[in-house]
This record gives sequence, C-alpha cells and structure tokens, in this order.
Amino acid sequence: MAAGKGTRLKSARPKVLHEIGGQALLLHVIAAAKTVAPPEKIYCIVGHEADRVKAAVAAAGVLVAFVDQPEQRGTGHALKMLKAEIELSGKTPPANLLVLSGDVPLIQPATLDSLCAFHLSEKAAMTILTAVPPDPTGYGRVLRKQAGTAEVLGIVEQKALTPEQLGSPEINSGIYCFQTAALFAHLGFLSDSNAHGEFYLTDVAALLVGAGERVVATVAANVDEVLGANTIAEMMHLDAAMRLATARRLMAEGVTIFRPETCVIDAGVEVGADTVLEPYVQLLGKTKVGSRCRIRSYSVVQDSVLGDEILLRNGCVLDGATVSDHAMLGPYAHLRPGSLIGDGAHVGNFVETKNTSLGKGSKANHLSYLGDAVIGEGVNIGAGAITCNYDGVAKHTTTLEDGVFVGSDSTLVAPVTVGEGAYIAAGSCITEDVPPGALALGRSRQTTKPGWVAGRKAAKQKGTKR
Ligand code: UD1
Ligand code: CA
Repeated sequence: MAAGKGTRLKSARPKVLHEIGGQALLLHVIAAAKTVAPPEKIYCIVGHEADRVKAAVAAAGVLVAFVDQPEQRGTGHALKMLKAEIELSGKTPPANLLVLSGDVPLIQPATLDSLCAFHLSEKAAMTILTAVPPDPTGYGRVLRKQAGTAEVLGIVEQKALTPEQLGSPEINSGIYCFQTAALFAHLGFLSDSNAHGEFYLTDVAALLVGAGERVVATVAANVDEVLGANTIAEMMHLDAAMRLATARRLMAEGVTIFRPETCVIDAGVEVGADTVLEPYVQLLGKTKVGSRCRIRSYSVVQDSVLGDEILLRNGCVLDGATVSDHAMLGPYAHLRPGSLIGDGAHVGNFVETKNTSLGKGSKANHLSYLGDAVIGEGVNIGAGAITCNYDGVAKHTTTLEDGVFVGSDSTLVAPVTVGEGAYIAAGSCITEDVPPGALALGRSRQTTKPGWVAGRKAAKQKGTKR
C-alpha cells in the first residue's frame, strides 16, 4: 500500500518517496517483498502522485505490477482496488496475500518469513504482525481474545480507543497475511463512518471474527522493524536506526568509524577492511571505498569508487569519481562526475576536476580547474592553472602528455595539446599546441624601469605631471 499522501509529513513529496538510509521508503518495502515473492506477484497500490511514484520505482529498475487508487479513501479501500484489478484481469487470485505498508520500511525478510509460516500453520483467515513499543501512541491496537493466546478480537485505531483501551500496549504494524478469499469476501462490508471517514483495512479483523473466521496475531521479535514513518521526526528516527545498522555492519567487516552516529552512510555503501572514517563523513549512493584508506572529517562522497590506501583529507566533495590506489586528495578538493584520478596522484586544496583523467603520479596541488582534460603520467600542474574548456557554445579537450610541467597561473585554452615533457612558463595563456620537449611562453615580456619611484616623487614635489 503506497497510495497515501502522507498529510502528517507536511511535504510536497509523496510519503513513500521520502528517503531513509538514502533510499525511498517504498523501495525498502519492495526489496523486502521481493525476498518472499517474485516481482510478478507483487502489486504496488499507488494513488497520490502515482506517476511520480511509478517513475521512481521504474528508475530503480524494479518490476512490479501497479494498481491505481485514484481516490485515497483508506487502507481498506486500497485493497478494494486490488480486488477489482485482479477480478478484471481474470486471473485466479493467490490463495494467500501478504500486505505490507509502504511506510513501514525496516521490515526484514526473516520476519516476513516467520509471519507467513505462522499464518499458514495457524490456518488463519487473517494474521496480524504486532509489536509492543515503549510508546504505542498513534498506532492501531490489537485486542486479543485472551492474554497469551493467538486469537484476536479486532483492531482499534488510536482515535477510537476507549479510555480503558488507551493502555493497550500491542500495536498493529500494518503488515498482515490474509486468506485472499476471506479478505475479498469482507471488503464490501467495510464502513467509512469513523474519525477519518475512511475504509479501514483494520476493520476486516472484527468482520472476520464476526463471521466465525480465525484471526490471529504474532509479535515481531524486533520492535524497530515495524515502526512506521508518519512524521519527519519518525522518519529521521528510522533513518538513524538504519544508518547505525550500516555502520555496525561495516565495523564488523573491519572498518574503523569514529563517532558512527555522526556519519551518514547509505545502506548500499561498501568499505574495505582497515579503512578509517573520521567523524562527520558522508558516504552516499553506490559508493565503494577500498581497504586501508583514511577519510577525514567533513568529506562527502557520492556514487564514487575509491581504491586502496587513499587519503581523503578534510572537506573533499566527490561525485561520480573514480580514484586509484594511493591517491591523496584535499583538503577541499572537488571531484565532479567523470573524474578519474590515477595511482598515487595528488589533487590538492581548492582543485576542481570534471570529466578529467589525471594520470599516475600526476599532481595538481593548489587552486586549479581541470575540466574535459586528458592528463598523462607524472604531470605537474602549478598553482592556479586552469583549463578553459568552454567557449560559450561547446566543451573542448585539453591534452597534457606524460611529464608535462604547467607553470603556475597558466590558462590552457582548449582545444589544445601539450606534448610529452614540454614546459609551460608560469602565467602563460596557451592557445596553440606545444610540441614535446618545448618551452612555451604565452605572456608579454616584463618591462622594468629602474629608479622610477624616486623620479615620480621628485616630479610630484615640483608640481609637474610625470
Ligand atoms: C495504519 C493502521 C494502523 C497501524 C499503522 C501501522 C489502518 C486504518 N491503520 O495506520 O492500525 O497501527 O498503519 O503503521 O490501516 N494507504 C493507501 N491508500 C489509502 C490510505 C493509505 O495506499 O487510501 C497506504 C499509505 O500510503 C501507507 C499505508 O497505506 O503506506 C498506511 O497508511 P497510513 O495512513 O500511514 O496509516 P496509519 O494511520 O499509519
Ligand atoms: Ca502509517
């Protein structure tokens, strides 16, 4: 179920597309669903901003069937849409149906496995996954026939709790197993005369019990897995839980993470053993970091691949970069998409690279912009050197062959090639190719006027202009 707006988030973004651990809530839930059912048996009910939700699922490369719920009239109504869709398709409904909530994202495959197994072994029409969190406020409460038995009387939503029921500690997780036929037979009897004016799926429990069907509940082993995300604060609580789990996984694999609670590490990130992450590091998206690296504080690495024994000094920003072993970056280096940094290369402070390869052992240590450049091995780029890659219409390539020396504050106006081992004098503006081994000077000659200052003072005293 992923059709709801998420009113309590007060956000323009549909709730199920809000992210925890760097991934949309819905994608976490679909990933869990895929561990118990093949994609062609997964239905995703969408409604609020349906196109945006469908596009996000498709962009993640996930194939599931979508069911439209154009008007979001409650979780019971969502299942009515599914029923109609299956009936219209002429397909035989599955014997059993596992229902997941798009905003309960931490649910784990093992828990779903045991829920399904319990449902089948109990031969129940409905099985509810429950939990007993420290604060049950806001959740529907599951009322058992008798304490200590599996059988349930019904589910009461927070707003409908009587004063006596307010103390009920067992919450409905919003995750259920149904015998499909029993569920479908009762959806038509749901009423929307309640606090929200919605058709509650939760009311099916009492309807089934009233019809003499068996409804049972089973408590999840881990409360955190079934916590919902109705507000940004709840979402950030789940985000922290998920990221801490990721940090723990990495630490178990030999990664040192100082102050892990300050680091922002997405769920899919990989880091090799003996790498050290200092406080306030962010590793995002599909980032992979090798072994024995050190990533200093305040570096943010997105969708980048780092080899072994790399030093990222403080405050580096990497996006879509590939960095080979032993490279040293920063502080404050900015590697944009398509940056390929060679073995042992140095990219120093306030150096920006984009769509640029910097060969093995090459150095750009200070204050440079290197865009659309192919730079060979052992090249030295002086402080402040810049590639002028854009002429206002198109981008052009700068090629620096192996062993080139670019003097400080030079501008390389692309397209331009500097041959192997050539020297560019400091302060040059290079507009023409330079052959291998040459020295190119692209600046006007200095003029020096000896004694000029004293002469000027004397002229001023006489009152004449000079
Ligand atoms: C629901 C349960 C509550 C349970 C809680 C657990 C109901 C009536 N209540 O409450 O007992 O404790 O989950 O987290 O079910 N959705 C649709 N279509 C709709 C409405 C909702 O697809 O018309 C989807 C939402 O996108 C969401 C899920 O169903 O993913 C749950 O809806 P939500 O409104 O968050 O229900 P809760 O109030 O949290
Ligand atoms: Ca919810």
